[in-house]
Amino acid sequence: MRTLQQLLGIELPIIQAPMAGVQGSALAVAVSNAGGLGSLPCAMLSLDAMRAELANIKAQTAKPYNVNFFCHAPPATSAEREAVWRTTLSQYYKEFAIDGDTIPEGPGRAPFSHEAADVLSDFRPAVVSFHFGLPSAELLARVRSWGSKIFSSATTVEEGRWLEAHGVDAIVAQGLEAGGHRGIFLSEDLSTQIGTFALLPQIVKAVRLPVIAAGGIADARGVAAAMALGAAGVQIGTAYLLCPEATTSTVHRAALKSEDARHTALTNLFTGRPARGIVNRIMRELGPISLAAPHFPLAASAIAPLRAKAEKQGSGDFSPLWCGQNACGCKETPAAQLTRELAANL
Ligand SMILES: Cc1cc2nc3c(=O)[nH]c(=O)nc-3n(C[C@H](O)[C@H](O)[C@H](O)COP(=O)(O)O)c2cc1C
Repeated sequence: MRTLQQLLGIELPIIQAPMAGVQGSALAVAVSNAGGLGSLPCAMLSLDAMRAELANIKAQTAKPYNVNFFCHAPPATSAEREAVWRTTLSQYYKEFAIDGDTIPEGPGRAPFSHEAADVLSDFRPAVVSFHFGLPSAELLARVRSWGSKIFSSATTVEEGRWLEAHGVDAIVAQGLEAGGHRGIFLSEDLSTQIGTFALLPQIVKAVRLPVIAAGGIADARGVAAAMALGAAGVQIGTAYLLCPEATTSTVHRAALKSEDARHTALTNLFTGRPARGIVNRIMRELGPISLAAPHFPLAASAIAPLRAKAEKQGSGDFSPLWCGQNACGCKETPAAQLTRELAANL
């Protein structure tokens, strides 16, 4: 069986996790040039921004890189649900003098589409990865037609088997420790979600594909431990958040560097889907999971003006402070150096 390095033409089995909203091409370029696999998250990019970022990568590296998309089914909007959600937030609108009726509804995060595939076809990245399952067979065939390898996240053994049956080239086993959105897609039952070092060997046993470990891995020993449990590579997000190449906001950086980073929880308040972030005021006061939150990604628009106003005052009380359960590896060092350090025990 070929190694991940041979499959992709990379030197180190270290994948910088795609992290929508906190990074663009600069982080991806730095990691790919250091011998790992850099990733460009596209979930929050317009088609023009995506094209510009892909052109940046092409201009700055000839090494393989990954381009990442969400592939959720967009939900129907519900005026009733949106109204309930805005009523839930009304106390905060009052506090910040925001007129809740004037906040525009917006899609927030767009799933992979034929239009995105049109842009991608001009760049033909080595890897295209998905979160929340896979897009339609037709879209997947387009991606495959230009030679990209296809990765997707599995949060259970069942999801790993499903992805193998649907033709992916590698599976990202995303343990419960992971920062950001859970890739969960076959179930909505969060009790099915287990830790990285319980999930990884079970998926390795259940499939014949390379399995990449993600969640809570923050240093060279963690990387070596994942490889000892059968991982073909690791995908690391949180540890890269303080790198100068990341676009992590000031309030997010401050939270990551503080003791607050030791307390994270899964929350649906910011987008409508469970994602792991540092517990902040709104998560404490409404509870991290609210049944009133609109379906993904519609919950994002109602909270956006609160986040903007609070951040202007230097507060992360209403911001998604995405972070895994292990922020110990966060360092303000260049991403190339961090990548080499993570691979030091291999
Ligand atoms: C800030 C942040 C944003 C993320 N955004 C994405 C994304 O856009 N697409 C994706 O597939 N995964 C995303 N993830 C999840 C990562 O792919 C990965 O599962 C996770 O970072 C691994 O756990 P760790 O953060 O403990 O290293 C994100 C994670 C973080 C921390």
